[in-house]
Amino acid sequence: MSPNPEAWQVEPLTPHIGALVSGARLSGDPTPEEVAAVCALMDRHLVCVFTDQALTAAQLRDLTAHFGPLFLHRQDEGVLHAEGVPEVLEMRKKPDGARLFGGSDWHADVTFQDPAGYLSLLHALVIPPLGGDTCFASTIAAFSALSSALQDQLRRLRAVHSYRGPGGAEEPGLTALHPVVRRHPVTQHEGLYINRMFTTRFEEMSEAESQPLIHFLADHMTRMEFTCRLRWREGYLALWDNRFSLHYPINDFTGQHRLLLRCTALEDASLEQLSRG
Ligand code: OGA
Ligand code: MN
Repeated sequence: MSPNPEAWQVEPLTPHIGALVSGARLSGDPTPEEVAAVCALMDRHLVCVFTDQALTAAQLRDLTAHFGPLFLHRQDEGVLHAEGVPEVLEMRKKPDGARLFGGSDWHADVTFQDPAGYLSLLHALVIPPLGGDTCFASTIAAFSALSSALQDQLRRLRAVHSYRGPGGAEEPGLTALHPVVRRHPVTQHEGLYINRMFTTRFEEMSEAESQPLIHFLADHMTRMEFTCRLRWREGYLALWDNRFSLHYPINDFTGQHRLLLRCTALEDASLEQLSRG
């Protein structure tokens, strides 16, 4: 990293979410001050995009480990682990590919377990000349725009998040129960913790009973006012907070090649305390 986080230039993308950060170097071994500076930017912007980075898979893993325990994605259709670095996923879409990882709906990463995903780091190696942008949405802006009557009801609910197998069944170990409203431990803002990819139902309610409210919330959460859109450049390193944002990569680049490396840190209360002093 650059020796002095105060020299980083931060350009917010929208009032609610997203910032471009230039002048940092994240490939070395960061000092506690640099990790704290990244955390402070994340608390403020939820999504930070560091320009002009060049990290190997191992460097991305080591950087991510400063933010929490590393998530190990299970071997799955369309998932490729970086060679020798299983904690890092190679997100590759070839010119003849159809499916884009994460591109089927708005979501947050790894909400189907406890501890759930905290920060995802995504580093762009090959980007199409046009297309393949990623959109992000602030769940804090979404929650604060709801009526206080609905906010009060949601604060009392918990929801089931599940990584479904091919048969659509909830699988043990890939299912978790989370509060529907979470409070940010630093800013104290409340955010809606629901996503259509993994949230299947509310606690003690059937899926049929739950789906109308899940769909209303999922639609509300992605209103344009709460979003930003990232047009990638090679060398960008995006960090997003899965506790308080959703994301959606746009699959509009048929015939083009796109390759990024991803690593995800899980929530860990004790580590969070340490890195925030
Ligand atoms: C992810 C994901 C975003 C992208 O890495 O979790 O959803 O832009 N991908 O590829
Ligand atoms: Mn994702």
